[in-house]
Parts: sequence; C-alpha cells; structure tokens
Amino acid sequence: MPAVRRIDVHLGGPDGDRSYPILIGSGLIDGHPELQRWITGREVFIVSNETVAPLYLERTMSACGDRRIDTLILPDGESHKHLGTLEKIIDALLERRHSRATTLVALGGGVVGDMTGFAAACYQRGVAFIQVPTTLLAQVDSSIGGKTAVNHPRGKNMIGAFHQPRGVLIDTDVLVTLPRRELAAGLAEVIKYGCIRDPEFFAWLERSMPALLAGDAAALSVAIERSCVTKADVVAADERESGLRAILNFGHTFGHAIETHTGYRSWLHGEAVAVGMVLAAALSVRLGTLHEDDAERIRALVAAAGLPTRPPEDLGVETFLEHMAVDKKVIDGRLRLIVLEGLGTAVVRDDVPRAVIADTLSAAGAAP
Ligand code: NAD
Ligand code: GLY
Repeated sequence: MPAVRRIDVHLGGPDGDRSYPILIGSGLIDGHPELQRWITGREVFIVSNETVAPLYLERTMSACGDRRIDTLILPDGESHKHLGTLEKIIDALLERRHSRATTLVALGGGVVGDMTGFAAACYQRGVAFIQVPTTLLAQVDSSIGGKTAVNHPRGKNMIGAFHQPRGVLIDTDVLVTLPRRELAAGLAEVIKYGCIRDPEFFAWLERSMPALLAGDAAALSVAIERSCVTKADVVAADERESGLRAILNFGHTFGHAIETHTGYRSWLHGEAVAVGMVLAAALSVRLGTLHEDDAERIRALVAAAGLPTRPPEDLGVETFLEHMAVDKKVIDGRLRLIVLEGLGTAVVRDDVPRAVIADTLSAAGAAP
C-alpha cells in the first residue's frame, strides 16, 4: 500500500475523547484497515450526489466491507443544501430502519459533507459518521472540524450543529475528475492557511502554484497535508469557535456578502473567499497592521491560482456592508473581522470603523 499520512484532530474535554484521524493517501477510497474500526456496527448509510456517485460510490461501498449498506443519491448543488433535503436523508434512514448503531458516510464535496454530518447529528439524537471528501475544498476544510449545517433562505449555514466525524478519509486520486474551476476554488482555502498561520507554506505556494494548477499529485498532497495540519491544530485549540477558530474565516465575511449578493449561483464559495482575502488584506493595510508588499503578495497568489481578485461590479458599498452585517460572526451587533498582523498572523477585531471598511471596498472597485 502506498504511503498514508495520518494527522490527528485532538479533542478531549468533558464530552470524553472524541479525537479522530485524518488519513491522506492515494487510492484510499478502496479502503484502509482504519476505516473498519470507524464503522463499529453492521449498518452503513452512504450519502452522495448524482455527480460523485457514478464515479466513486461502488468503490466506497466495497471499502465498507461485509455489512448492510444502504445508499442515498442526492441532486447536485448548493441550492439543495436545505432542510427539505435533510428531511429526505432522515426519511430514508427511517424507511430502511437504521438504528442508533448505524454509521453515515458522506461521499462528496462540502455540500454532501455538511448535510450528511447534520443528519448524523440529528438522527436519533446523534449517530456516527465518516467523511470521504472528494473536492479539494472539502479535503482541506469542510470535512474537518465538525461544523455541519444547511442553509436557510435568509442566510447560509444558519441551521446546524457541531458534530465531529469518526474519521476523515482523503483519497488524493479523486481530484483527477474534479473540474478545474472547483480545484481553483479549493486553492482559495489552501492559500488561507498560508495567510493566517503559515508564512513558509505561503512562500511554498507561491513557488508551487503552476504544479498545483496542473494537478501535480505530489504538490497537491503536500498542500492537502499542510492545510489539514493547520485546520486540525486550530480546531483542537478551539472546537466551538469561542476564540481562535474564527481566524479560519479570514476573508469569509466579505466573501459571504458576495455569495449573498449573487444568490449562491454564479460565484463559487472559494471564489468569493478569494476576493474576500484580498479585501481583508487591503483592510489590514489601512489599519496599519500589514505591509503593502504582503497584501500585494496575497493578491498576486490569488490571481496566480486563477481566482478573482475584485468584487462583482454591480455590488455597491452600502449593499456590501448590509450583507456583511448578516454574518454568524456578528455578535451583539458588532461585526467581527479577521485581520492580518503581518503575513501568517491573524487576529479577530471587533473595532474596525465602518468608514474604514467602506473606504477599502471603494478602493477595491465596489460601486458607490
Ligand atoms: P460541492 O460539494 O458543491 O462540490 C463542488 C462540485 O464538484 C459539485 O458539483 C460536486 O458534485 C462536484 N464533485 C465533487 N467531487 C468531485 C470529484 N471528485 N470529481 C468530479 N466532481 C466532483 O462544493 P464544495 O466546494 O466541495 O463545498 C462547498 C460547501 O462546503 C458549501 O456549502 C460551504 O458552505 C461548505 N463549507 C463548509 C465548511 C465546514 O467547516 N463545514 C467549510 C467550508 C465550506
Ligand atoms: N471553515 C471554518 C471552520 O471550520 O471553522
């Protein structure tokens, strides 16, 4: 078996030890001995979607071993990430009489992962689940850390729960079928880790971007591993986002405003986050905590990944600010933004004057 890299997410505390491994390697979708330990019962319920299932469902079923395996194939897309689809998953679990001993398996990108995780959190007050992420974004971000959710028409990820998986199985080979645009969107979250915690990794990304975009397996493995190490560290330090974990949302408040404005359709999450990071870096320069040269390095790396660096032309400053105010990071009416204090160090600030944000948006080309 080719080399498998293991990263542990350490989660102790009053709820008992809920630590779990992330396994990264080539061909893991065909199985790994560790997977057999994560599935403790005889029942397995795999949730996937109509795009991913034809590619990887059969192999994932085989990897689960000699058990009773049921499957549910959902329609593809963020527009299906709502309570109605959650109900479909619960209906299917009940119809097929899955007990509390069942294990749900999420086979897909962040949309399938977030919904399956939430179903696992709710079904019979919580059952086990495993993440088998198949997009770069899901492999480096959404499959790790136990945030699960569905969208509400009034806001993204507004209904959800913290529910940690038993394990995360990352097969790096599945990225060969991922569309280029989705790969680039995942790179936005990879760049994020360099910006907030890992300046050496940022410099490596500057050198390795052509290889990453070409789908070079060795380069992608390094990027996934390094991203997972940072995500695991931050989640272990602050599972429920009472402080540090908020830095993982670098660029996201600006990004969510773009996603809301465009109706979650024309822009991918990673693309909106890419522009968000450029804006957050520009804001940090205005606040005097980031050197202009470093903000330019962030913009240039985002551009090199083939990602957008400017907000949509029809999004005016006032509307932008209104959308930003509807964010889970707004507490008691105060907007909390992630700001860089140098490349590689992120902090949460709730004292950024509205005028400074408005000036940053205008300078970036947002309509008046
Ligand atoms: P996605 O799940 O919609 O997947 C993107 C597209 O790629 C889909 O069409 C999917 O069917 C397809 N696809 C997936 N794997 C494939 C493969 N190997 N080959 C070919 N096609 C494949 O989008 P995403 O970017 O993975 O996830 C975005 C979602 O993740 C959003 O809903 C976002 O809110 C959520 N998210 C959650 C967290 C968290 O911590 N829980 C973090 C970041 C993002
Ligand atoms: N993606 C942000 C988080 O997991 O906290």
